[in-house]
Amino acid sequence: MPYPTRRNRINRANHAIRELVAETQLSASDFIAPLFITEGQGVKDEISSMPGYYRFSLDLLKQELEELVAAGIQSVLLFVKVPDELKDNAGTEALNPNGLMQRSIRMIKTEFPPLLVMTDVALDPYSSYGHDGIVEKEEIVNDATVEVLVKMALSHVQAGADWVAPSDMMDGRIGAIREAFNRAGYENKGILAYTAKYASNLYGPFRDALDSAPGFGDKKTYQMDFRNSREALLEAQEDSAEGADMLMVKPGIFYLDIVQRMAQSSLLPIAVYQVSGEYAMIQAAGAKGWINREAVMMESLISFKRAGAKIILTYFAKEAANSLKSNA
Ligand code: PBG
Repeated sequence: MPYPTRRNRINRANHAIRELVAETQLSASDFIAPLFITEGQGVKDEISSMPGYYRFSLDLLKQELEELVAAGIQSVLLFVKVPDELKDNAGTEALNPNGLMQRSIRMIKTEFPPLLVMTDVALDPYSSYGHDGIVEKEEIVNDATVEVLVKMALSHVQAGADWVAPSDMMDGRIGAIREAFNRAGYENKGILAYTAKYASNLYGPFRDALDSAPGFGDKKTYQMDFRNSREALLEAQEDSAEGADMLMVKPGIFYLDIVQRMAQSSLLPIAVYQVSGEYAMIQAAGAKGWINREAVMMESLISFKRAGAKIILTYFAKEAANSLKSNA
């Protein structure tokens, strides 16, 4: 028989056939948009290491939320920048019913009721040490931290949050939060677990955005070692057993193997977080003219879905959703 018997290029020959055989589609409903919120009025500060991304005060956040909704985004994840004078080693301000996070949740649920509001649960923005937990003799103590995280999660759902997203990597916090929700009548609230959160070098721009870099040491005693992958599946097993509703892998691009393994071994929806350093790299190379920024953005987002994530947390959410709309 003359070679080739099959010509694989037949399925790539034109736009119509490529669309027909494409296995992966992106849609605005895949995205969760992270938002950085700061105190004050009329504030829209560009984050220097995240060009094109901003910290908003609550008044200007409304405009941004309108744009997100117009783009088709239906879920947001809130982070707040806490003034230095409110930071301590106990997470006191994290529990303030009138804190910036709690006020933000109330504003969004009042003005944009259908938006799904998720909140970051971890102490680092509130910590005088910039760590995700309570520090004792330079150690990040697990169980005392979990107690505060539980109170923090309760305070977010009391303010109206739909979901909490614990990003701290303490042991046992998913189960403790789930149990507290059940006891307090919040049994229908969701938990997006940061299940496999690695001690990555890609979080720098985020720490600039919230002024939350660790004051001493690093986060390697609680975030995962990036040389490991089986451990991610152990975390996934535990988080699902403890009552998580969705599992997340973080960061994204360098961790597609983890996304794929987790998607194959768990039946829960899998989310991936394309973190600040990934955003910064794409923006920077794009600004230099070294890559086609928008094309690389879409390629990166597609890669997450191809690997098995259904949900993508990304600073590109609004732009990508708009781009999907205009190319539809
Ligand atoms: C804090 C938190 C971090 C990120 C999300 N939640 C930073 C960290 O763990 O130091 C990183 C997000 C990003 O880089 O985009 N618990």
